[in-house]
Amino acid sequence: MTTTEADRLDEAELERHFEEKIAKDQRIEPRDWMPEGYRKTLVRQIAQHAHSEIIGMQPEGNWLTRAPSLRRKAILLAKVQDEAGHGLYLYSAAETLGVNRAELTERLLQHKQKYSSIFNYPTLTFADVGVIGWLVDGAAICNQVPLCRSSYGPYARAMVRICKEESFHQRQGYELLMTMMQGTEEQRQMVQDATNRWWWPSLMMFGPPDAESPHTQQSMAWRIKRHTNDELRQKFVDMTVPQAEALGVTLPDPELKWNPERGHYDFGEPDWAEFKQVISGNGPCNQERLAHRTAAHEQGSWVREAAAAYARKHSGQEVAA
Ligand SMILES: [Fe+2]
Ligand SMILES: [Fe+2]
Repeated sequence: MTTTEADRLDEAELERHFEEKIAKDQRIEPRDWMPEGYRKTLVRQIAQHAHSEIIGMQPEGNWLTRAPSLRRKAILLAKVQDEAGHGLYLYSAAETLGVNRAELTERLLQHKQKYSSIFNYPTLTFADVGVIGWLVDGAAICNQVPLCRSSYGPYARAMVRICKEESFHQRQGYELLMTMMQGTEEQRQMVQDATNRWWWPSLMMFGPPDAESPHTQQSMAWRIKRHTNDELRQKFVDMTVPQAEALGVTLPDPELKWNPERGHYDFGEPDWAEFKQVISGNGPCNQERLAHRTAAHEQGSWVREAAAAYARKHSGQEVAA
């Protein structure tokens, strides 16, 4: 038997062991053997998720200096800081797969990795802050709760804490909107207008329809994902319609209707041509978001240099001058 043959046998054995663990719903940990495709899929998904958290600070961060009261400002500040924390947990989870954060940031800035299409839409009024909490964090929760059972241990564990914080985000948004709906006619119109603008982009957060989703099947087989895009989208719609009714806003979809036979709401098709435009860089704010991220990265270079110098000094590598 040649060495190559022996390696191949070992690899087959390792793969069998991996598949067995997945089938038994056991977690895969960083030191475990994993197929290269599994590792790559996770790096792509976790990095994309981390970038979304960090870029996602921008649309709402935009309103921090203009929040209408000290209370609203404190809540929004806490929320935006949470998103930074989510980004950091996720970059750490990605690092357990053998990539580093600097490399991932580079890939984002060079347009080689994506972030969620939703953050390429502008926040025009303070009602947008509430609607983002309600719909965008609400959609994020639908997506992320099943990820707490994802097969990759560090990702699943990061999601547990993130989901707790997302649920606070959703509630603060909904409470803000409830308050505005009890205010003036003008405030109610602001909420309706923000709902009209964010509804369809929120549905797009679940990704393309299942038939056009290239990664879903393999990700389900590896138990990275637990539900398809369309299943999660349906769940989100079913959850949100009664919330819209309680709030007193109309969701901008004439096809939205309870279907007693299916036991779900029927709803219209998002504009997938718009979705494709936004994910390929041509949404309303793509350039602005990446330019801001690039500037922040450049302005932070002195912090990274100082941290590296400090680490060198304390590891005894510094050569005495
Ligand atoms: Fe988040
Ligand atoms: Fe959030």
